Amino acid sequence: MQKIIILDFGSQTTQLIGRRVRELDTFCEILPYNKFSTVEQDLQSGDIIGVILSGSPYSVHDPEAFQVDLSQFVGRVPVLGICYGAQFISHTLGGRVEKADSREYGRAHLETIDLDSPLFRGFEKGSQVWMSHGDTITAIPDGFKCIASTKDVKYAAFASNSSNSLSNHSGNSCDSSNSWSKEIFAVQFHPEVYHTAQGKQLLKNFVVDICGSHQEWSAASFVDTTVKELKEQLGDDRVILGLSGGVDSSVAAVLLNRAIGDRLACIFVDHGMLRKNEFRQVMDDYRGLGLNVIGVDASEKFFADLAGITDPEQKRKIIGRDFIEVFNAEAQKLVNCESTGEETRSQIGLGSAACEETRSQTVNRKLSNSKYRWLAQGTIYPDRIESLNITGKVIKSHHNVGGLPKEMNLQLCEPLKWLFKDEVRRVGRQLGMPEHLITRHPFPGPGLAVRILGDITPEKVRILQDADDIYIRGLREYVDTDGETLYNKVWQAGVILLSTVRSVGVMGDERTYEHPVALRAVTSTDAMTADWAHLPYDFMARVSNEIINKVRGVNRVCYDISSKPPATIEWE
Ligand code: XMP
Repeated sequence: MQKIIILDFGSQTTQLIGRRVRELDTFCEILPYNKFSTVEQDLQSGDIIGVILSGSPYSVHDPEAFQVDLSQFVGRVPVLGICYGAQFISHTLGGRVEKADSREYGRAHLETIDLDSPLFRGFEKGSQVWMSHGDTITAIPDGFKCIASTKDVKYAAFASNSSNSLSNHSGNSCDSSNSWSKEIFAVQFHPEVYHTAQGKQLLKNFVVDICGSHQEWSAASFVDTTVKELKEQLGDDRVILGLSGGVDSSVAAVLLNRAIGDRLACIFVDHGMLRKNEFRQVMDDYRGLGLNVIGVDASEKFFADLAGITDPEQKRKIIGRDFIEVFNAEAQKLVNCESTGEETRSQIGLGSAACEETRSQTVNRKLSNSKYRWLAQGTIYPDRIESLNITGKVIKSHHNVGGLPKEMNLQLCEPLKWLFKDEVRRVGRQLGMPEHLITRHPFPGPGLAVRILGDITPEKVRILQDADDIYIRGLREYVDTDGETLYNKVWQAGVILLSTVRSVGVMGDERTYEHPVALRAVTSTDAMTADWAHLPYDFMARVSNEIINKVRGVNRVCYDISSKPPATIEWE
């Protein structure tokens, strides 16, 4: 399959380059800058059709700056350097990169453009671009020509003269003829960001026209090939999958179900801190999709273990540990069950009344001889990109399903591991999943526990669930002036219960002394950065009123207007 390789030099926008390439229906892989050798085979087989070098927080002059041996791909496939990528190409091939007199950040306009360059096909003079660099290129290497300038940046873009003889000035060996028939392009601005007005056009010119992408990567082709591959990979084996109610694990389940049907068993653990009625609703959704789901109400265990715990990290650790314990116990039952050939009912402890329908569904379902050999997860590409963590600091520990005990001998199956979030949604639609499941906001694994400041009790969860339910329902019902619901316009929303705080209020003639809640709604593309959503005042007024009037225990509503960074999306 054709693919573009994006070499990551640690820029914040590397993933965005990947998403833009995928939007061109072209497969791409993001690799750490020093891992190109791992795909040499793909280059030889012709699968790699182009390479993009990302930006970086480093200057090419920093002693610790990331370096790559360009000769691995230069001349063999077209190359595009972006920002640091452009400066690295210039610096390495004999140009000059120097500290800019004034750092170049923000909007700029391409005042001269070589419209004959295939990179700028369809561009308009004056096109806005987004700059973000402290160094600037003051001379380009021999054999290159300038193809765009802004008022302040002479070499905003440059390209190799095709089939030029280029000498190598810093030890990067190139191919034997010392000439590169495949062109090298470099831009000091960021075509991947929204503020570069014709950035998409530039990337299309590179990926489609210059690299020759057939644009075959689509949700439909992904479903077809993945179902076929899963059938081959899994044979008659059985698979266990942990469902969270979120879009990723749900899409993974439906995809697997399409490949192996009932041989997929899904486990959905209720830790008691889901949204109001969410466990039952999600179970209904899953059953509607024909999934074989085991619902486990383990809320008592979680509440007991969390009693009196106030430290956010400790809460997360306990929930993560308990989750793995409960999930593993259920998975173990499935595995044991299959080895004795007994009916699942006798083995699967479906704890609560909420699971009655699930119980009846599972009863009398005899297991065939095939074995559980796989653990499937809804891991998506951003979860696993081996990103270059420059600071190396962990801000919060995120825990999804952890490793299963070795004795179970399960192999990992991650059918969505190459997809970005928006692609997962496209695949979900392709699979005919209901829209409310596909557009569901992200929800943290530890659930409402990270939205209650202080210790967690069932009563506090009840208060928060009621307030959250009013807020989320309100977001779904409010249609904005552009015809879109507020729910669909925000990335994520929720309520935080400030249970360590009390304030005085008055209701009727009564003095109240109760808790405030904070409403949070953010816009984002990937949760790495987020801005607070500018919700309409009339909506806020309505929701605030309804929460204070209907939710006992709350007498004040605030709105969180912090962006990420410096805040995070969740409060704990
Ligand atoms: P923060 O609070 O770090 O959240 O800005 C970024 C995104 O991650 C979600 N989140 C989690 N997801 N397990 C998860 O599966 C977790 O422990 C967890 N903590 C935060 C959060 O809701 C947001 O979408």
